[in-house]
Amino acid sequence: MSTSAFPPLTVDHVMNCSFSSWYPKFRRVTLKSEIIAIPPEFIAYLNEDGVFLPLDSNGMPQPSYETPKVDDSDDDNGDFSEDEEGGESWGSIPHFPEFQELITQRIESLGGEVFPKLNWSSPKDASWMALGQTLKCKTPADIFLLLKSSDFITHDLTCPFEACTETLDASTKQTPESYELILRKWYDLHPSMEFRCFVKDNVLIGICQRDHLNFYPFLVTSRVQLESAIKAFYVDEILGKFGNNSFVFDLYINKNNQKVWLIDFNPFSINTDSLLFTWDELIAFEVPTQEGPVENCAGMGLRVVSTPSDSGLTYQPMYATNRMPKDAVDLSDGQTLAEFAQQLTEEVARSMIKE
Ligand SMILES: Nc1ncnc2c1ncn2[C@@H]1O[C@H](COP(=O)(O)OP(=O)(O)OP(=O)(O)O)[C@@H](O)[C@H]1O
Ligand SMILES: [Mg+2]
Repeated sequence: MSTSAFPPLTVDHVMNCSFSSWYPKFRRVTLKSEIIAIPPEFIAYLNEDGVFLPLDSNGMPQPSYETPKVDDSDDDNGDFSEDEEGGESWGSIPHFPEFQELITQRIESLGGEVFPKLNWSSPKDASWMALGQTLKCKTPADIFLLLKSSDFITHDLTCPFEACTETLDASTKQTPESYELILRKWYDLHPSMEFRCFVKDNVLIGICQRDHLNFYPFLVTSRVQLESAIKAFYVDEILGKFGNNSFVFDLYINKNNQKVWLIDFNPFSINTDSLLFTWDELIAFEVPTQEGPVENCAGMGLRVVSTPSDSGLTYQPMYATNRMPKDAVDLSDGQTLAEFAQQLTEEVARSMIKE
């Protein structure tokens, strides 16, 4: 589908969806978070090829990805050597002590476990690499491994305005002035209670379950109540307060107390997953012009997976195409990539010593 079918999308529209643009205004209704400015050297490190972790704040290799100690009789070979004071020097491995210290402090202030993202995207395609196979991070190293391994993070860093319909000429920056690391307090969210909402010309035209691959029977029976809770939240908390007329936002409803939480804003664009809708139908949907309360607007309502047979039957894990080649995965023999990488580095070090 061509981007020209969408309502116009400008750099400003995309910027309005970046976390630090909307968080101050919606702080009361979203998850507690911290915003940390990313130094340019760290952006350069993220843009470099290869998954390797910086030294920790004490200047030592990160415990989850130790650099091999090769035979140091020849100091010119390998990263490890003794420096003039007899201490260890790790050659070209990057080192961001202040940035890491700041991250450690912010993780602590958020309760010790965080969900990371950049200006727009989380590294959700890289969770399989983490030791716990989730985006739950406890240390800077956990965060760096995810950021370095994610195609979504690369997209934020290289072409965040790709779907804009305005022509980006030489005077328009292709990337934002600055990047931010967003740390959000970790919550064990139940996927069945996450919803994606589509707003066109300030009208909530469609809502669907975010986990579009699974059937949750209770969603079918409580669809009407959920839809009205989401519409009320839209009218009370979002309508007229967000910079774009057309956008997509994500919600979480706490199953126990039915409280609604805002999770994220996304552009009304091809790069946002339309889940149980198609972009064709969302674009073609004619926003009613009648006067009256917005909550009565006849949108397409809340769409859920309504039978077990409608759920995703591919058994393909989410974001499977963002992963490594299959032969590398086979070779890893069921380990996470962090374990596999460590094993591989040890094997390489052993073979270097033998030679
Ligand atoms: N604070 C949190 N604690 C635990 N899990 C979270 C947290 N925030 C988000 N998640 C989970 O991560 C998923 C993705 O989060 P989020 O929408 O912020 O990422 P995103 O990269 O913007 O996704 P998308 O590209 O789909 O818009 C959410 O659906 C939710 O399941
Ligand atoms: Mg998002």
